[in-house]
Amino acid sequence: MNKLIAGNWKMNCDRVSAQVLVADVVKGDIPGNVDVCFCPPFVYISDVVGDDFPKNIFFGGQDCSYYGENGAYTGDVSASMLKDLGCEYVILGHSERRQYHVESNNIISKKVEHAIKAGLKVIVCVGETEKERQEGLQNPVVIMQLKESIPEGVGGENLVIAYEPVWAIGTGKTATAQDVQEMHGVIRRYVQEKLDKPDLVRILYGGSVKPENAAELLQIENVDGALVGGASLKVDQFLAIIAAAK
Ligand code: PGA
Repeated sequence: MNKLIAGNWKMNCDRVSAQVLVADVVKGDIPGNVDVCFCPPFVYISDVVGDDFPKNIFFGGQDCSYYGENGAYTGDVSASMLKDLGCEYVILGHSERRQYHVESNNIISKKVEHAIKAGLKVIVCVGETEKERQEGLQNPVVIMQLKESIPEGVGGENLVIAYEPVWAIGTGKTATAQDVQEMHGVIRRYVQEKLDKPDLVRILYGGSVKPENAAELLQIENVDGALVGGASLKVDQFLAIIAAAK
């Protein structure tokens, strides 16, 4: 199973810088055994998707509609539209969606259903807040998120889980190698016990991943890749993280 390095651009870039960023990364030294996924804002996806990229380069959305394929849902973008644009993945349940758009596990679960039905692979994000960790609640919080956000029958290579401790996102703070190993072990056990084709489910770490810590994080047991925010916007940094996943 290839490791997956996914770049979550969030609400960044303009049309030209989006095109330049993808072109420059793809021109770099990308190992054949690492899957790389770019997740730009919706409006730039069709500017960056191309037919002539190597087979391990993919594109993804950062969210999709809770509602179905089409309909009177002003402002929404459906999973099938992302698929139509050439996306292979969609990030769902990112903590910024949970926080700023009040997305519950149940909402995320419905989005997962739509995305799988549309033929996308889902990157479902889970992770505890700083307060929850201080209170020692990280394991039950994450297990509950997994239970409620991932509908029955979903698994295999269609499912990627990203463990992103909320307090590590965009803060420069990373979880310690021991914290990551423990949580990824907890998630792996849940996947083995409850989900379909568990061996094909990848578990990513996310939260201030950068060239300086990528190699250490990516060699931890059950870390099958990384979800990268800030550093995915810098060609050299993103390429260095990709290289560390080799
Ligand atoms: P960060 O973001 O790498 O900037 O911390 C990660 C994420 O939000 O997916």
